[in-house]
Amino acid sequence: MLNITDNITFKTIRPKILYFGTPVALITTIDENGHPNIGPMSSVWALGYNLVLGLGCASKTFSNLIAQKECVVNIPSVNLHQNIENIANLTGANPVPEDKKTLYRYEADKFTAGGFSAMPAQAVRPPAIADCPIQLEAVLEQYSILDFGQDGKPKLAAVTVKVVNVRVHENLAMGTDHINPDCWSPLIYNFRHYYGLGKALGKNFKAEL
Ligand SMILES: Cc1cc2nc3c(=O)[nH]c(=O)nc-3n(C[C@H](O)[C@H](O)[C@H](O)COP(=O)(O)O)c2cc1C
Repeated sequence: MLNITDNITFKTIRPKILYFGTPVALITTIDENGHPNIGPMSSVWALGYNLVLGLGCASKTFSNLIAQKECVVNIPSVNLHQNIENIANLTGANPVPEDKKTLYRYEADKFTAGGFSAMPAQAVRPPAIADCPIQLEAVLEQYSILDFGQDGKPKLAAVTVKVVNVRVHENLAMGTDHINPDCWSPLIYNFRHYYGLGKALGKNFKAEL
């Protein structure tokens, strides 16, 4: 803890990105033909059973989700970071959007490319990723555009989905209404580097376990 007398100075900067450490999620969606896609992302937060997803509007994930109105928000554990990085420069969008052309290429099958196993979801049509210990099946509620590109087209959106079914690997579940935090190890995206959690520090006054 800093004391007011400590000689700390701040510097005003403009970081290129503001990914200050959020869990990685893999969004599975389907297109109009039922073909599945995986979109890695980390701009996600939950409030109750509502999730807000920050998505690029040129992504296949965004267009699939808006058109088909369903997704699975698969939450990977730390052990999947290399699988995720193996699909990081891929997009299911064909043709590849103009501003991604130098760094990304089209891939129709990110399950195979990343070494992920598909499994049927229970309440929505997109498949879940069996390798992910937490699977949040969700339906589209609404979205709003956060940012427009220089061409005037929507660039970034906040998409709200409602979770309608939750499945977890059995070893994480405590009864039917809790996840054991001691058994769960989320993958954290920290300024474009992958991290795990440190040791437990304490718990909230409302924690029931
Ligand atoms: C760890 C990680 C986190 C990412 N976070 C986001 C994000 O929060 N929102 C987003 O739109 N793209 C994010 N991306 C970039 C997308 O994964 C990338 O644009 C990808 O091509 C989307 O695939 P799609 O076009 O097949 O949906 C992230 C990528 C990685 C590897």
